[in-house]
Amino acid sequence: MKEKLLKQYQVWDAPTRIFHWVNFTTVILLIFMGLMMLFKKDMGITSLDAKVTLKIIHVLIGYVFVLNLLVRLVWGFVGNRFARWSNIVPGKGYAATLSGYLTSFKQGEPQQFLGHNPLGRLAVVVIMLSLMVMAVTGLVRAGTDIYYPPFGSSFAQQVAAEGVDPASLKPYDKTGTDSAKMKAMGEFKGPFGEIHIYTSCFLMFLILLHIMVVVRTEIKEGGGLVSAMFSGKKTLEREPEDLNG
Ligand code: HEM
Repeated sequence: MKEKLLKQYQVWDAPTRIFHWVNFTTVILLIFMGLMMLFKKDMGITSLDAKVTLKIIHVLIGYVFVLNLLVRLVWGFVGNRFARWSNIVPGKGYAATLSGYLTSFKQGEPQQFLGHNPLGRLAVVVIMLSLMVMAVTGLVRAGTDIYYPPFGSSFAQQVAAEGVDPASLKPYDKTGTDSAKMKAMGEFKGPFGEIHIYTSCFLMFLILLHIMVVVRTEIKEGGGLVSAMFSGKKTLEREPEDLNG
């Protein structure tokens, strides 16, 4: 058994913490707006203007979400060692680390980590992949549905009828469009919408799981996980496994 010590360590750097809370806020808002879009009829929202406005608000929040995600993806290559993908994405030696952690967990004295524990690393990868799927499918639908950047102008060009200025096309208005090309775009955008909605359900499940596991780990294993995402500091009572890299 390792020596008992109550020690504070600097773990999460400022960009990682800012990413976490901007991501948290934008995802909650996106889910809220997404659910409003899904249940607009039940909420009495029927006018085309209101429908488009909901989508525009969702997409504008989506841009903040995507930019924040992009910064975090890059930060995973330049940030401190706990923020780096090389320390998060399972690679060589991961299976042994995971089995060591699970054994200690079963024995009732889980190993402590400064960065994510081995299960947390897996969770981060699944969450990040889901967020990337949401970003890509959302940006495509923003282009096909309301001709918004970054793909909107190229979709407008694809569906504009001969001699019509693509910039003059309006969302949910067939004026100036070529019906065959619109049909083709409709077929193209369908799967993106389906993936967007199914992944958002999966993400809602992951968020609930994430919160439950963090609260449980905080209670059973300590470490101040939640406050560490504000202060950047973890307080551990046993020597962490990843103290020296
Ligand atoms: C975690 C992030 C996100 C979540 C949880 C989310 C959630 C949702 C949900 C629940 C819907 C409703 C689907 C429907 O009405 O059929 C939706 C639709 C939509 N989302 Fe997102 N979204 C996210 C990110 C984004 C991003 C980044 C963009 C673009 C910048 C975006 C653009 C759209 C568009 C254009 C629609 C309408 C698609 C349609 O009518 O089928 N979303 N989103």
